[in-house]
Amino acid sequence: MSGLKQKLEQKILAERPRTEKLVKEFGNVKADEVNIGQIIGGMRDIKCLVTDISYLDPFEGIRFRGLTIPEVLEKLPKVEGQEMPFVEGFFYFLLTGELPTSKEADDVHEEFNARKKVPDYVFNILRAMPADSHPMTMFSAAILSMNRDSIFKVKYHEHIKKTEYWQYYYEDAMNLLAKLPEIAAFIYRLKYRDGKIIAPDPKLDFGGNFAHMMGIPKPYDDVARLYFILHSDHESGNVSAHTGHLVASALSDIYYATSAMLNGLAGPLHGLANEEVLRWIHGVVETLGGKVPTEEEMKKFVWDTLKTGVIPGFGHAVLRKTDPRYTAQREFCLKHMPDDLLFKYVDLLFKVVPPILLEQGKAKNPWPNVDAQSGVIQWYYGVKEYEFYTVLFGIGRALGVCSNIIWARALGYPIERPKSLTTTMLENIAAGKSVD
Ligand code: MLT
Repeated sequence: MSGLKQKLEQKILAERPRTEKLVKEFGNVKADEVNIGQIIGGMRDIKCLVTDISYLDPFEGIRFRGLTIPEVLEKLPKVEGQEMPFVEGFFYFLLTGELPTSKEADDVHEEFNARKKVPDYVFNILRAMPADSHPMTMFSAAILSMNRDSIFKVKYHEHIKKTEYWQYYYEDAMNLLAKLPEIAAFIYRLKYRDGKIIAPDPKLDFGGNFAHMMGIPKPYDDVARLYFILHSDHESGNVSAHTGHLVASALSDIYYATSAMLNGLAGPLHGLANEEVLRWIHGVVETLGGKVPTEEEMKKFVWDTLKTGVIPGFGHAVLRKTDPRYTAQREFCLKHMPDDLLFKYVDLLFKVVPPILLEQGKAKNPWPNVDAQSGVIQWYYGVKEYEFYTVLFGIGRALGVCSNIIWARALGYPIERPKSLTTTMLENIAAGKSVD
């Protein structure tokens, strides 16, 4: 058993009694109440999910295993000579809640290395897809096709114990995650670089190898590491994380669940938003004549836009402050690309939009989210194909979704099955009548 799996097993054995006790002794204690607005309105704010991998405070933003983003970037072992941590070490941290040593991060790298060969049939499927297929469709299809290799699927039919399920989800997750950089880079080079594929380099770490296979020089390797870490998890209620959890709760294997979560991520209200933001910013640059506008010019533009539309990249269902994932990327831009025209636009928008949205009084959250910044970095380093951006988000999100699924099986969470009502029943409830 690998060091990571052993550590995880210890953690699981220590955690199980906490969940068992909550269910057994406190199962009837109310954690929240639900109103009709929430039932019709996308279940907003209902506290009905559990995860220890990350927690989203509306004012502070995301904490991964208790650490803020700056703490994660500071404390996790870094790739030699680079600014950003190993994605492998971050995955160790998400799974176990413990900061790995450099050696432990390197062991995960070795474990991924041993599992990263992508079967030829995956490349054949991708080559056979219509040339205008969206890269998210290709990514999801490639992952789904590998479900034939699921170890859990085989073991389940051998009637393994429920307490052992997590072990095979772990094996499947490691096998899948190890292959994602190569599959994603293959899709990119197949679609946008005349199919000139670059072979992986086993010496390179997860992020470094991805940058290498994309054919983009440093510091894009750090961009990749930062990007995958930032997008990994945003607690459990967002569409991708929740979809992954829901599908795996039926004991569908990790390939089915990851492909499904990517299909949710592909929606314009979720992961596709970064593509929409960049398209919009390019439109702004064109409208404002391609020069850096003054603050007054930008304010006027924003007010004019708000007469008929919205400013993409601002607002969030849970957050009520600037998204720290936005801030982390902004700091990267200030250091590496401060004079970039698009970044200057983004930064000016960051300055003028929140006060205007506050003055307008419609937005619950006038602050920028992660999507307001991420496409700009990709564009700067030569990834100019907007529709690919969500694939990058998907690689990151797979780290969090897989961690959550492994833990959900380890803690024996059952199949998810909430109860629905009819509209008449809601009307009866509204009128104070009983529906039972
Ligand atoms: C995410 O990272 O999933 C998005 O910010 C959406 C969300 O948290 O609801």
